[in-house]
Amino acid sequence: MRIAFASAEVFPYAKTGGLGDVLGALPKVLKRQGVDVKVFLPKYATIDHSKYELDYCYPIGQMPIRVAGQVHNVNVFHSTLPDSDVDVYFLDCPHFYNRSSIYTNDRDEDERFIMLCKGVLESLQRLQWKPDIIHCNDWQTGLIPLYLKDNYSWDRFFDNVASVMTIHNIAYQGRFSKNTVEKAEIRPELFYQNSALEVWGNISFLKAGLMYADAINTVSYTYAHEITTSEFGAGLEGVLRHRINDFWGILNGVDYHVWNPATDKHLPFHFSLSDMSGKEANKKFLLESVHLPYRENVPLIGIVSRMVSQKGFDLLARGINELMQLDVQWVILGTGEDEFEDLFRSLSYVYPQKVFSYIGFNTELSHLIEAAADIFLMPSYYEPCGLNQIYSLKYGTVPVVRKTGGLADTVKDWHELYYSGNYDGTGFTFNDYTPYALVSTVRRAVEAYYDKDLWNKIVLNGMLKDFSWENSARTYKELYNHALKNKRG
Ligand code: ADP
Ligand code: GLC
Repeated sequence: MRIAFASAEVFPYAKTGGLGDVLGALPKVLKRQGVDVKVFLPKYATIDHSKYELDYCYPIGQMPIRVAGQVHNVNVFHSTLPDSDVDVYFLDCPHFYNRSSIYTNDRDEDERFIMLCKGVLESLQRLQWKPDIIHCNDWQTGLIPLYLKDNYSWDRFFDNVASVMTIHNIAYQGRFSKNTVEKAEIRPELFYQNSALEVWGNISFLKAGLMYADAINTVSYTYAHEITTSEFGAGLEGVLRHRINDFWGILNGVDYHVWNPATDKHLPFHFSLSDMSGKEANKKFLLESVHLPYRENVPLIGIVSRMVSQKGFDLLARGINELMQLDVQWVILGTGEDEFEDLFRSLSYVYPQKVFSYIGFNTELSHLIEAAADIFLMPSYYEPCGLNQIYSLKYGTVPVVRKTGGLADTVKDWHELYYSGNYDGTGFTFNDYTPYALVSTVRRAVEAYYDKDLWNKIVLNGMLKDFSWENSARTYKELYNHALKNKRG
């Protein structure tokens, strides 16, 4: 089986969140399982060229590609995903990708990803490498399924090529005004009220992907169910219900080569179940380096997150005064909306002994927080999968999460299980999106922390959990077969 992946993010080259992690891991595991894979992404100026060997791809050569009536000469560079022989192709179009960030608010954001969609298809044509499936991820690649069935269907090369569309976050839909239809060279007849592209008079790349792909999925079972409802479907719940027979939930996995406390290259001290002493050493190291006092038996709470309402930051803001009354320390890493960045920046001034916040993106610090903290807080309003709570489990850092989406599928509340005679809990969870539920659950975790036997049991339960990609990769293969059946009958 041959799979071409298309995505705006692929770790380690380009990442703003979990999408990058998934694309950096799943292709490698599929390859190990005997699938032939290639990965496509833009060649952003932000990619650290000194770190990776990128070679000009002569078999593809220069491709003239038209977007919004302008022809751009696109070159392609090739590399292999680190620690693997997975081919990665970088679409080089400086006009669109030499910007200071992966995503922009620029007026041609639609054009930047129309280019990606066309660039993937044209590269495949020129490579003469025919995939069984083009696996599209999020709205930036949503036009590919439509292009396959319409604009590029003249080419017999694509006759048997099916597509899969994965939703990593349904709130981001790539909605643009009607004139994007023309920029993308989509036939105007395809765009009308309630058509497969249209949402409230605009075009939505994600809706197009969901309607034209041969199979679709999202990244956890609970989120798959949630987004068929109006509360979480962000207006696309009807589309998902319409496609319910082709819509699966497949839980994300973890790349334990990157996220393993026994080998993590970002950690000063390693640890594992057989010797946990490194965990406390990391805690001391982190606290010292951020100038917080090390206090024995005082729990350290970590947060690593995009600072947006999705992640529960409005709830944190509402509960913050009470949370600050607890005798705990906080290390917070994130970027996002100004009001939340400002809140945490100011907290570290008001509570210099208690709170350290780093506003920015910092991979090394993200690993160190996972390793050093006692508790990891993730009170998301919704969460398609969430990876940090799964990393936390492996790092012996007990997650406190809201029971939604992938958080509900990966973290089991200690007390809830305990009262049914089961000692398998791995963290602490709450349902109500209220400051009261948040604060009382954090308090529950802090109290458990003081009972060392109990705490060690919860830590152990989490560390023993295995969320490696192998199982989910096998389920993706089933989904690919489902897509092929839809396509080829
Ligand atoms: P999402 O994709 O919604 O942001 P996930 O939990 O799936 O959430 O994945 C987030 C990924 O991004 C994790 O690998 C996390 O460590 C990383 N991350 C998030 N914010 C930062 C940051 N400020 N600095 C470094 N890494 C970050
Ligand atoms: C999105 C979601 C996150 C998920 C990630 C990878 O960014 O917000 O929950 O883990 O995609 O699928």
